[in-house]
Amino acid sequence: MRSDAELQTGTNQRPDLPVALVIGGGGIGMSTARRLGQSHRLVLASLSADRIPAREAALREDGIDAVVTRCDITDPGSVAELGRLVASQGPLRTIAHVAALSPSMGDWRTLLRVNLVGARLIERMSLEQAVPGTAAVFVSSSAGHLAEPPAPEITAVLDDPLVPDFVERLEKLVPERTPLQAYRLTKNALLRMCRRRAAAWGQKGARIVSMSPGPIATPMGALEFEGPHREVKLTMLRQSPLGREGTMTETADAIEFLASDRASYITGTDLLVDGGILATTRFS
Ligand SMILES: NC(=O)c1ccc[n+]([C@@H]2O[C@H](COP(=O)([O-])OP(=O)(O)OC[C@H]3O[C@@H](n4cnc5c(N)ncnc54)[C@H](OP(=O)(O)O)[C@@H]3O)[C@@H](O)[C@H]2O)c1
Repeated sequence: MRSDAELQTGTNQRPDLPVALVIGGGGIGMSTARRLGQSHRLVLASLSADRIPAREAALREDGIDAVVTRCDITDPGSVAELGRLVASQGPLRTIAHVAALSPSMGDWRTLLRVNLVGARLIERMSLEQAVPGTAAVFVSSSAGHLAEPPAPEITAVLDDPLVPDFVERLEKLVPERTPLQAYRLTKNALLRMCRRRAAAWGQKGARIVSMSPGPIATPMGALEFEGPHREVKLTMLRQSPLGREGTMTETADAIEFLASDRASYITGTDLLVDGGILATTRFS
């Protein structure tokens, strides 16, 4: 019989579960955390320190074993610190990189740094910790598919966002420096990053994929509906096969599947979760 000192009460601790890292604690991020938290111990990392207590409480209420921490993904030191925290938790089984800014949430340069430099820093740190069976899912966007592919010289710069003069090099090539253009370019670059990095992940027996949502009913999605892109979004929905936004449950379904062993032969590719919008835009 166990002694009373050995007993654990009043905690969600599940040392038996594998570790998942979720980056971004907004709409899709929290819904992903709730889902992955059913089968993983979680580390949830996001920018705003003042939101940590509420996020911790929400996950605790669901009985999830979670550490919630602050990380600025644009800061290499902050990402390294997150890496040390994750390493202290045990082998990293799953990464869901969800954090990004939509066009209404920042200027051209900030979007480039958060959506692409940040994603690449997380990819680099995660690969260092990957073990056989690790899977990483990077959330891109249907916006990365909808725009015309960038010119080869722009793509070459986007493929190497960790060089110190990345932003300046890009600005020499892109005349339209708007947040919307930054969003399209960074989301397109993320699709390419997951394809280009698959071989390196494969060397460790690990997988990397992207998942591209169409319009999803989240606070970020609502913000875009209020802004200057409202009519563009409405036109897309009018033309779409399903005639509605997706839900956060549906993006969590896709991320959970891609990260699972059921997707063990899927790497270096993208899953479009857009209710068929790209299909109707391109093919009808
Ligand atoms: N919603 C849609 O319709 C839609 C459509 C297509 C693609 N997506 C993609 O889906 C993902 C999630 O979207 P969402 O609607 O859930 O957005 P959201 O609620 O705004 O969440 C984005 C999260 O990114 C975090 N973040 C921002 N800058 C950061 C930084 N420097 N370091 C660390 N974290 C940072 C924010 O952190 P804090 O909250 O801690 O400040 C926020 O929680 C994004 O990649 C987005 O591009 C969304």
